[in-house]
Amino acid sequence: MIHDATSPSDISAVALAKATNLLGTYKRAPMRFVRGAGVELFDESGKAYLDFASGIAVNALGYADPGIQQAMERAMQSGMIHVSNLYRTDPGERLAAMLTRRSFASKVFFCNSGAEANEGAFKFVRRWARSFGTDGKTGIIALRGSFHGRLFASLAATDRPAYRAPFRPLVGGVSICERDSAQLDLALDADSVAALIVEPVQGESGVRAMEGELLQHLRKLCNERQIALIFDEIQCGLGRLGSFFAYEKFEVTPDVLTLAKPLAGGLPMGAILVTEEIASAIKPGDHGTTFGGGPFVAAVAEHVVERLADPSLLASVRENGIWLGEHLHGIARRSGRVRAVRGMGYMWGVDIVDKASTVVEGGWDAGLLMTTAGDHTLRLLPPLVTGREDLGKGLDILEKLLC
Ligand SMILES: Cc1ncc(COP(=O)(O)O)c(C=O)c1O
Repeated sequence: MIHDATSPSDISAVALAKATNLLGTYKRAPMRFVRGAGVELFDESGKAYLDFASGIAVNALGYADPGIQQAMERAMQSGMIHVSNLYRTDPGERLAAMLTRRSFASKVFFCNSGAEANEGAFKFVRRWARSFGTDGKTGIIALRGSFHGRLFASLAATDRPAYRAPFRPLVGGVSICERDSAQLDLALDADSVAALIVEPVQGESGVRAMEGELLQHLRKLCNERQIALIFDEIQCGLGRLGSFFAYEKFEVTPDVLTLAKPLAGGLPMGAILVTEEIASAIKPGDHGTTFGGGPFVAAVAEHVVERLADPSLLASVRENGIWLGEHLHGIARRSGRVRAVRGMGYMWGVDIVDKASTVVEGGWDAGLLMTTAGDHTLRLLPPLVTGREDLGKGLDILEKLLC
C-alpha cells in the first residue's frame, strides 16, 4: 500500500476544498462551517446562515448553548468519558430514570444512533415474542413511506427504493405495508409478526403525520394479537411536535419507543424505551454496545432532557408552531409554487412545484439552511429555541425564494 507523504500542514485550504478523504456517501454543500451561535451557523468568510435544519433535527437547543457547555464541563470533572457497560455509573441510570418517569416505559437501553436504536428494538421484540413459546413470531412490519435508518435491518424497514436497491438482498423477516387499515389488518398476523414499527410523523418522506384513528386501530390490533407496537420518535420526538414525546400528541401509547437525534445535544446517543413486560424477556448477553450510555454523553443528555421537557419550552413550540404553519400557508397562497403545507410544532413539510434541492441551494446564497424530504418537499426543522423574530426572518427568505 502506498501512503501519501504529504504532511497535514502542506494541505492548503484550496486543495482541501477540492479534494476530501471522506468517503463519498454524501453530496455535501460547498459551505464550510467554522462556528455556531444561537440559531445560526457561520462559514469561513463570516457569513451567517439561519438554521432551519438543526443538523437534521438534532440541535434542538441551537449552538453554543451555555447550559450544554456547563453540563459538559461538569461531566468532565469526574474525568470519566467512558467506562463501558461492564460497570455502573450514575448519569446513565439517572437519565434512564428521567425517561421512564416521564413515559410508559420501565427500562431503557442506550446506544449511539437512531438506526442502532431501531436495530436494538427489533432484537428486543423478537426476544419478547419468543417468550410465547414459538419460534415463528419474528416478523417486523414497517409502513409505506417509512425511514428507520441505514443499517441492515433498519434499511429493510426503510421504504426508499434508492437506499435499498444497491444492498439487496436485505435482511429477511422485515416487510413494508401500505398505510391502510385493511391491508395492515391482513399483514399483522398474530402467529408470524412480532412488531409493527411506526413513525408518528414520517420525517424523511415528507412530514406526514399518522392518522389518529388509524393509529388507535393499530394499537387495538397489536393488543389483540400480541404484537409489539414500536414508535420511532427519533425525528419527531423530544419536543419537536410541542409535546415531550410524540405519542402524547396522538394519545396512543407504544410498547417500545426509539429516540436519538437531539437526545444528547449533538453528541451521538440513541435510546430504546420498553415496557416492563418486554424488559422482563431480556436477559444479560441479549444485546450490547461498547459506548452506549457512557457517563459523559449521559450527563449531557440529562441536561438536554430536562430542558426539552420544560413546559414553557414545549408551550412555545406549540404556539410558535401554529404561527409558523399560518405563515407557511400564507406563503403558499401568495407563491403559486407551493402545492401543500403539512406539519406541527417545529416540523414542517412544504411541497413545491420546483425541485426542492434548487430552493435549498437558493437558501445557501440567501443565508437560510433547510433540508429536503423527497424531490419536491422542503423540510423545515428549526432549533426548538428559535424565537418568532428568527422564525420570521427565515420565512421572509423562504417567501423570496418561492415567489
Ligand atoms: C425517523 C428516523 N428513524 C431513524 C433514523 C436514523 O437515525 P441515525 O441517522 O441516527 O441512524 C432517522 C434519521 O434521520 C429518522 O429520521
